[in-house]
This record gives sequence, C-alpha cells and structure tokens, in this order.
Amino acid sequence: MRQITVVEDPGAAVAERLTAAAEQGAHIVLTGGSTPRNAYAIAAEEDADWSDATVWFSDERCVPPDHPDSNFGMAHRALLSRLTKPPRVMRMPGELGHEAAAGAYEALVREHLGNDPRFDLLLLGMGPDAHVASLFPGKPEIEETSRAVVGVPLAGMEPQVPRVTLTLPVINRARVVDFLVSGGDKAQAVGRAFGDPPDPEAPAARVRPQDGSIFVFVDEAAAAEL
Ligand code: 6PG
Repeated sequence: MRQITVVEDPGAAVAERLTAAAEQGAHIVLTGGSTPRNAYAIAAEEDADWSDATVWFSDERCVPPDHPDSNFGMAHRALLSRLTKPPRVMRMPGELGHEAAAGAYEALVREHLGNDPRFDLLLLGMGPDAHVASLFPGKPEIEETSRAVVGVPLAGMEPQVPRVTLTLPVINRARVVDFLVSGGDKAQAVGRAFGDPPDPEAPAARVRPQDGSIFVFVDEAAAAEL
C-alpha cells in the first residue's frame, strides 16, 4: 500500500505520526539531513511519553556524535534531549569508522529485533539524486541483499565523509515507511521515485516494503513533477 499526501507542512504531519508511534512503544527509525529537523522540533514540542519506544537511525556520517554533521547529534538536539520521557536510543557509532560501525550496528539490530528485523516506523528523507538513508545511486551498497547494515566508504554527496546505512532488505521489511520530502529542489527526485513509471535507477524507487506500507508526505513544491 502506498499513499502520497501533499500538505503545506509535511514536517507537522510526520511529527504527529512519530509521536503516535512513540506512545505505542514502537521501534522507530529516525533519519538525518535538514528536512526532518523541523518534524523533530514539532514532536519535541508535543513532549509525549516516548519511554516505551526505541529509536534507531537510518544512517550516520562517520563523525563523533557531537559533530555538527552527526545525524544522531541533530536528532538529539532537536528532539531526544528535549523530551521529558525520552526513549531508549540506539545510535550508529559512526566514530568507529564505517566498517566497524556497520558491524556493531548490525549486531545490535539483530540482538534486539532478531534475525529478520522489522522496524515499526521507518522515516526516510530523499536527496535531490533520489538517494535514501546513505544508499546512493549507482553505488554498490544499494545492491546489498543479506546484511542489514553496511559501511559506505564513498558518500555520493556532501558531507563527503564515509557513512553507515541500513540496507534495502531491512528497509523493505519495515511495517511502515514514511517519506518526508519538501522543496522544489526535490521535485525531480520525487517524480523519479513515485511517478509512473518509477525510475529504477532512483534508490527511493526501490523502497517497497514487501509486507508493509509507504506513506509519502510532500509539500506542493516537492510534488510538482508527480
Ligand atoms: C543523510 C540522510 C539523507 C537525507 C537526504 C535528505 O544522512 O544525509 O539520512 O538520506 O535524508 O539527503 O536530506 P535533506 O533533508 O538535508 O535534503
């Protein structure tokens, strides 16, 4: 099932969904980049009870957690550190380097969610090249078929630091995937990912949960080429 919703403030819509999932004690995957920051800030204002929830990450830059480029750092500042009843947080240890961090996170995911891990709500943004998490077009990581987490030695985009990322097999096992995309600079990517027909070269077009749903929240500018 896929539903595309065009709204003035897609961040607010996503914030509500994060809050509802958190209150249900879900395993929630947060993502990085600049777009989700607004959604996280709105969710922080709601200050719901996140204490039964577990927060994971879709991808991370190989920098320390207090570095300005850290995805965890952004989510921590915008949301996690502001909650009165915070969740359990499973951050990707990017500072270990891409390979060691991927191995450690894979072990953590499997320890808590078993050998066929299923996240309840997995949030993704999208880059102007239609990348998701740190799965960049034309790079080998997008073809991974068995590991849940891989290292990305060469990022396809700024900041040009190695990354750690969830892979398509685990993303496509999620119960719900929410996409949050805004701005005219993403319109072409949104068209490639969700238009008819989708562009198979666009990583976002390959996000198709086998037994789950996709909800796409976009503003009018990002929906211009749908
Ligand atoms: C990252 C992200 C990445 C992001 C998109 C969109 O680490 O950069 O997880 O996949 O979601 O690049 O980022 P913006 O919202 O900054 O455009």
